Amino acid sequence: MKNYTRKEFLQTSLIVGGAALVAGRSRLAAATAPGSANGDVRVAVVGINAQGAGHMRAYLGKLPGARLVAICDVDSEVLRKRAAECELAGFKPTLYRDYRKLLENKDIDAVVLGTPNHQHSLQTIWALQAGKDVYCEKPLSHNVWEGRQVVAAVRKYHKNIVQAGTQNRSSEDVMDAIAFVRSGKIGRIQWARALCYKQRDSIGRTTGPQAVPKSVDYDLWTGPADLIPPHRNSPTNGPIHYDWHWFWNYGGGDITN
Ligand SMILES: NC(=O)c1ccc[n+]([C@@H]2O[C@H](COP(=O)([O-])OP(=O)(O)OC[C@H]3O[C@@H](n4cnc5c(N)ncnc54)[C@H](O)[C@@H]3O)[C@@H](O)[C@H]2O)c1
Repeated sequence: MKNYTRKEFLQTSLIVGGAALVAGRSRLAAATAPGSANGDVRVAVVGINAQGAGHMRAYLGKLPGARLVAICDVDSEVLRKRAAECELAGFKPTLYRDYRKLLENKDIDAVVLGTPNHQHSLQTIWALQAGKDVYCEKPLSHNVWEGRQVVAAVRKYHKNIVQAGTQNRSSEDVMDAIAFVRSGKIGRIQWARALCYKQRDSIGRTTGPQAVPKSVDYDLWTGPADLIPPHRNSPTNGPIHYDWHWFWNYGGGDITN
Protein backbone atom coordinates (compact mmCIF):
# COMPACT_ATOMS: atom_id res chain seq x y z
CA MET A 1 0.00 0.00 0.00
CA LYS A 2 1.29 3.46 -0.91
CA ASN A 3 2.18 5.68 2.02
CA TYR A 4 0.67 9.12 1.46
CA THR A 5 2.06 12.32 2.87
CA ARG A 6 -0.44 14.51 4.69
CA LYS A 7 -0.52 16.82 1.68
CA GLU A 8 -1.11 14.06 -0.90
CA PHE A 9 -3.81 12.59 1.30
CA LEU A 10 -5.81 15.80 1.37
CA GLN A 11 -5.25 16.51 -2.31
CA THR A 12 -6.51 13.05 -3.33
CA SER A 13 -9.48 13.36 -1.03
CA LEU A 14 -10.47 16.67 -2.56
CA ILE A 15 -10.35 15.37 -6.13
CA VAL A 16 -11.95 11.96 -5.58
CA GLY A 17 -14.69 13.29 -3.39
CA GLY A 18 -16.35 15.29 -6.15
CA ALA A 19 -18.53 12.30 -6.99
CA ALA A 20 -19.85 12.11 -3.47
CA LEU A 21 -21.43 15.54 -3.46
CA VAL A 22 -25.03 15.32 -2.45
CA ALA A 23 -27.09 17.65 -4.57
CA GLY A 24 -29.73 19.87 -3.06
CA ARG A 25 -29.99 22.94 -0.90
CA SER A 26 -28.19 23.16 2.36
CA ARG A 27 -30.60 22.10 5.08
CA LEU A 28 -28.97 24.51 7.48
CA ALA A 29 -29.78 27.40 5.18
CA ALA A 30 -33.23 25.97 4.51
CA ALA A 31 -34.09 25.25 8.10
CA THR A 32 -33.00 28.63 9.38
CA ALA A 33 -35.38 30.27 6.93
CA PRO A 34 -38.65 31.10 8.73
CA GLY A 35 -41.37 28.50 8.21
CA SER A 36 -38.96 26.01 6.67
CA ALA A 37 -40.71 22.87 5.50
CA ASN A 38 -37.58 20.89 6.25
CA GLY A 39 -37.93 20.99 10.02
CA ASP A 40 -35.05 20.86 12.50
CA VAL A 41 -31.41 20.81 11.52
CA ARG A 42 -30.24 17.33 12.51
CA VAL A 43 -26.83 17.73 14.13
CA ALA A 44 -24.00 15.32 14.92
CA VAL A 45 -21.25 16.32 17.34
CA VAL A 46 -17.87 14.72 16.68
CA GLY A 47 -14.99 14.62 19.19
CA ILE A 48 -16.80 15.03 22.50
CA ASN A 49 -14.17 14.96 25.23
CA ALA A 50 -13.98 18.61 26.29
CA GLN A 51 -14.90 21.41 23.88
CA GLY A 52 -17.08 19.05 21.84
CA ALA A 53 -18.86 17.98 25.03
CA GLY A 54 -19.78 21.63 25.57
CA HIS A 55 -21.23 21.77 22.07
CA MET A 56 -23.11 18.54 22.65
CA ARG A 57 -24.65 19.89 25.86
CA ALA A 58 -25.80 23.03 24.06
CA TYR A 59 -27.98 20.84 21.86
CA LEU A 60 -29.55 18.89 24.72
CA GLY A 61 -32.93 20.53 24.44
CA LYS A 62 -31.85 24.15 24.48
CA LEU A 63 -31.57 25.09 20.81
CA PRO A 64 -34.87 25.44 18.99
CA GLY A 65 -34.61 24.43 15.33
CA ALA A 66 -31.69 22.06 15.92
CA ARG A 67 -31.78 18.45 17.08
CA LEU A 68 -28.89 16.30 18.29
CA VAL A 69 -29.16 13.02 16.37
CA ALA A 70 -25.65 11.54 16.60
CA ILE A 71 -22.43 11.72 18.58
CA CYS A 72 -19.06 10.34 17.56
CA ASP A 73 -15.75 9.70 19.27
CA VAL A 74 -12.89 7.30 18.66
CA ASP A 75 -12.56 6.82 22.43
CA SER A 76 -15.32 4.39 23.44
CA GLU A 77 -15.03 5.50 27.07
CA VAL A 78 -15.68 9.15 26.13
CA LEU A 79 -18.55 7.99 23.90
CA ARG A 80 -20.06 5.93 26.71
CA LYS A 81 -19.94 8.84 29.18
CA ARG A 82 -21.49 11.31 26.74
CA ALA A 83 -24.19 8.83 25.70
CA ALA A 84 -25.11 8.50 29.38
CA GLU A 85 -25.37 12.30 29.67
CA CYS A 86 -27.61 12.42 26.62
CA GLU A 87 -29.83 9.70 28.01
CA LEU A 88 -30.20 11.60 31.29
CA ALA A 89 -31.38 14.60 29.28
CA GLY A 90 -33.86 12.42 27.36
CA PHE A 91 -31.83 12.07 24.14
CA LYS A 92 -30.76 8.87 22.43
CA PRO A 93 -28.41 9.92 19.61
CA THR A 94 -26.89 7.30 17.32
CA LEU A 95 -23.35 6.49 18.46
CA TYR A 96 -20.39 6.33 16.07
CA ARG A 97 -16.72 5.62 16.52
CA ASP A 98 -15.88 6.03 12.84
CA TYR A 99 -16.67 9.47 11.43
CA ARG A 100 -16.76 8.08 7.88
CA LYS A 101 -19.70 5.87 8.85
CA LEU A 102 -21.46 8.86 10.36
CA LEU A 103 -21.10 10.76 7.10
CA GLU A 104 -22.91 7.97 5.26
CA ASN A 105 -26.03 8.72 7.31
CA LYS A 106 -28.32 10.83 5.12
CA ASP A 107 -30.40 11.81 8.16
CA ILE A 108 -27.63 14.07 9.46
CA ASP A 109 -27.63 17.62 8.11
CA ALA A 110 -24.72 19.22 9.95
CA VAL A 111 -21.63 18.19 11.88
CA VAL A 112 -19.94 20.02 14.74
CA LEU A 113 -16.25 19.14 14.96
CA GLY A 114 -14.58 19.17 18.38
CA THR A 115 -11.74 16.88 17.31
CA PRO A 116 -8.02 17.75 17.54
CA ASN A 117 -6.57 20.23 15.03
CA HIS A 118 -4.90 17.66 12.77
CA GLN A 119 -8.34 16.27 11.91
CA HIS A 120 -10.14 19.53 11.17
CA SER A 121 -9.46 20.17 7.47
CA LEU A 122 -9.99 16.65 6.26
CA GLN A 123 -13.11 16.15 8.36
CA THR A 124 -14.51 19.44 7.09
CA ILE A 125 -13.82 18.54 3.46
CA TRP A 126 -15.30 15.05 3.86
CA ALA A 127 -18.45 16.53 5.43
CA LEU A 128 -18.85 18.94 2.51
CA GLN A 129 -18.42 16.06 0.08
CA ALA A 130 -21.18 14.22 1.94
CA GLY A 131 -23.45 17.26 1.59
CA LYS A 132 -23.34 18.35 5.21
CA ASP A 133 -22.93 21.74 6.83
CA VAL A 134 -20.02 22.16 9.23
CA TYR A 135 -19.17 24.02 12.39
CA CYS A 136 -15.48 23.38 12.94
CA GLU A 137 -13.68 24.33 16.10
CA LYS A 138 -10.74 26.66 15.78
CA PRO A 139 -8.24 26.45 14.22
CA LEU A 140 -9.87 25.47 10.95
CA SER A 141 -6.68 23.73 9.88
CA HIS A 142 -3.44 22.31 11.21
CA ASN A 143 -1.45 24.54 8.87
CA VAL A 144 -1.95 27.21 6.22
CA TRP A 145 -1.85 24.82 3.24
CA GLU A 146 -4.62 22.68 4.67
CA GLY A 147 -6.70 25.78 5.40
CA ARG A 148 -6.47 26.71 1.74
CA GLN A 149 -7.81 23.28 0.75
CA VAL A 150 -10.81 23.92 2.99
CA VAL A 151 -11.39 27.25 1.29
CA ALA A 152 -11.21 25.51 -2.11
CA ALA A 153 -13.69 22.89 -0.91
CA VAL A 154 -16.08 25.52 0.45
CA ARG A 155 -16.07 27.21 -2.96
CA LYS A 156 -16.58 23.91 -4.75
CA TYR A 157 -19.35 22.59 -2.48
CA HIS A 158 -20.93 25.99 -2.14
CA LYS A 159 -24.42 24.74 -1.30
CA ASN A 160 -23.24 23.99 2.20
CA ILE A 161 -22.06 26.23 4.98
CA VAL A 162 -18.83 26.08 6.96
CA GLN A 163 -18.36 28.14 10.07
CA ALA A 164 -15.07 28.22 11.95
CA GLY A 165 -15.41 28.39 15.72
CA THR A 166 -13.27 31.42 16.32
CA GLN A 167 -15.41 33.24 18.85
CA ASN A 168 -12.98 36.15 19.16
CA ARG A 169 -14.09 37.22 15.70
CA SER A 170 -17.56 37.90 17.09
CA SER A 171 -16.52 39.19 20.50
CA GLU A 172 -17.53 42.83 20.82
CA ASP A 173 -14.53 44.01 22.84
CA VAL A 174 -12.10 42.48 20.35
CA MET A 175 -14.00 43.96 17.42
CA ASP A 176 -13.91 47.38 19.13
CA ALA A 177 -10.15 47.06 19.65
CA ILE A 178 -9.63 46.15 15.99
CA ALA A 179 -11.76 49.08 14.87
CA PHE A 180 -9.73 51.36 17.15
CA VAL A 181 -6.44 50.19 15.63
CA ARG A 182 -7.83 50.47 12.09
CA SER A 183 -9.11 53.99 12.75
CA GLY A 184 -5.47 55.06 12.91
CA LYS A 185 -5.88 56.62 16.38
CA ILE A 186 -2.64 55.04 17.56
CA GLY A 187 -0.82 55.80 14.32
CA ARG A 188 0.88 53.36 12.00
CA ILE A 189 1.65 50.05 13.71
CA GLN A 190 5.39 49.35 13.58
CA TRP A 191 5.43 46.02 15.36
CA ALA A 192 3.26 43.97 17.65
CA ARG A 193 4.12 41.57 20.43
CA ALA A 194 1.75 38.86 21.56
CA LEU A 195 2.03 37.09 24.88
CA CYS A 196 0.10 34.10 26.07
CA TYR A 197 0.15 33.35 29.78
CA LYS A 198 -1.69 30.38 31.09
CA GLN A 199 -1.00 28.29 34.12
CA ARG A 200 -1.01 24.68 33.00
CA ASP A 201 -0.30 21.27 34.42
CA SER A 202 2.69 19.37 33.12
CA ILE A 203 2.14 17.93 29.66
CA GLY A 204 3.86 14.76 30.91
CA ARG A 205 6.40 14.58 28.13
CA THR A 206 8.20 11.23 28.06
CA THR A 207 11.26 9.91 26.28
CA GLY A 208 9.68 6.59 25.33
CA PRO A 209 6.49 5.57 23.57
CA GLN A 210 3.42 5.33 25.80
CA ALA A 211 0.70 2.70 25.76
CA VAL A 212 -2.57 3.70 24.15
CA PRO A 213 -5.62 3.07 26.36
CA LYS A 214 -7.74 0.14 25.13
CA SER A 215 -10.75 2.40 24.73
CA VAL A 216 -9.05 4.48 22.00
CA ASP A 217 -8.92 3.51 18.32
CA TYR A 218 -5.51 5.08 17.82
CA ASP A 219 -5.47 4.62 14.05
CA LEU A 220 -8.66 6.69 13.75
CA TRP A 221 -7.42 9.15 16.38
CA THR A 222 -4.21 9.72 14.38
CA GLY A 223 -6.09 10.04 11.07
CA PRO A 224 -4.02 12.01 8.54
CA ALA A 225 -1.10 12.62 10.93
CA ASP A 226 1.96 10.35 11.11
CA LEU A 227 1.13 7.15 12.94
CA ILE A 228 3.58 7.29 15.85
CA PRO A 229 2.96 6.27 19.48
CA PRO A 230 2.16 9.00 22.01
CA HIS A 231 5.15 10.51 23.81
CA ARG A 232 3.25 12.14 26.62
CA ASN A 233 1.32 11.01 29.65
CA SER A 234 0.14 13.89 31.75
CA PRO A 235 -1.47 13.41 35.14
CA THR A 236 -4.50 15.36 33.93
CA ASN A 237 -5.04 14.25 30.34
CA GLY A 238 -3.21 10.92 30.03
CA PRO A 239 -1.40 9.96 26.79
CA ILE A 240 -4.09 10.94 24.25
CA HIS A 241 -6.30 13.89 25.00
CA TYR A 242 -5.59 17.61 25.00
CA ASP A 243 -1.75 17.62 25.20
CA TRP A 244 -1.50 16.83 21.47
CA HIS A 245 -1.55 20.66 21.19
CA TRP A 246 2.17 20.70 22.04
CA PHE A 247 3.28 18.25 19.32
CA TRP A 248 3.63 19.45 15.74
CA ASN A 249 2.20 16.20 14.35
CA TYR A 250 -1.20 17.28 15.72
CA GLY A 251 -1.14 20.89 16.88
CA GLY A 252 0.74 24.14 16.57
CA GLY A 253 1.36 25.04 20.20
CA ASP A 254 -0.35 28.07 21.66
CA ILE A 255 0.01 30.02 18.39
CA THR A 256 -2.69 27.95 16.74
CA ASN A 257 -4.39 27.15 20.03
N1 LIG B 1 -13.31 27.79 20.74
C1 LIG B 1 -12.75 27.60 21.91
O1 LIG B 1 -12.78 28.42 22.81
C2 LIG B 1 -12.07 26.28 22.16
C3 LIG B 1 -11.75 25.89 23.47
C4 LIG B 1 -11.16 24.64 23.66
C5 LIG B 1 -10.86 23.85 22.56
N2 LIG B 1 -11.15 24.27 21.32
C6 LIG B 1 -10.83 23.42 20.15
O2 LIG B 1 -11.63 22.25 20.22
C7 LIG B 1 -10.90 21.14 19.71
C8 LIG B 1 -10.92 20.01 20.72
O3 LIG B 1 -10.24 20.41 21.89
P1 LIG B 1 -10.35 19.56 23.23
O4 LIG B 1 -9.63 20.33 24.27
O5 LIG B 1 -11.77 19.17 23.46
O6 LIG B 1 -9.46 18.25 22.82
P2 LIG B 1 -9.52 16.77 23.42
O7 LIG B 1 -8.29 16.10 22.98
O8 LIG B 1 -9.79 16.84 24.88
O9 LIG B 1 -10.82 16.12 22.74
C9 LIG B 1 -10.84 15.72 21.39
C10 LIG B 1 -11.78 14.53 21.26
O10 LIG B 1 -11.83 14.17 19.86
C11 LIG B 1 -11.77 12.75 19.77
N3 LIG B 1 -11.30 12.39 18.43
C12 LIG B 1 -10.03 12.42 17.93
N4 LIG B 1 -10.02 12.03 16.66
C13 LIG B 1 -11.29 11.72 16.33
C14 LIG B 1 -11.91 11.26 15.15
N5 LIG B 1 -11.21 11.02 14.04
N6 LIG B 1 -13.26 11.06 15.15
C15 LIG B 1 -13.99 11.28 16.29
N7 LIG B 1 -13.44 11.72 17.44
C16 LIG B 1 -12.12 11.94 17.45
C17 LIG B 1 -10.84 12.34 20.89
O11 LIG B 1 -10.97 10.98 21.23
C18 LIG B 1 -11.30 13.28 22.01
O12 LIG B 1 -12.35 12.71 22.75
C19 LIG B 1 -9.49 21.66 19.39
O13 LIG B 1 -9.36 21.87 18.01
C20 LIG B 1 -9.38 22.96 20.14
O14 LIG B 1 -8.54 23.90 19.49
C21 LIG B 1 -11.77 25.46 21.10
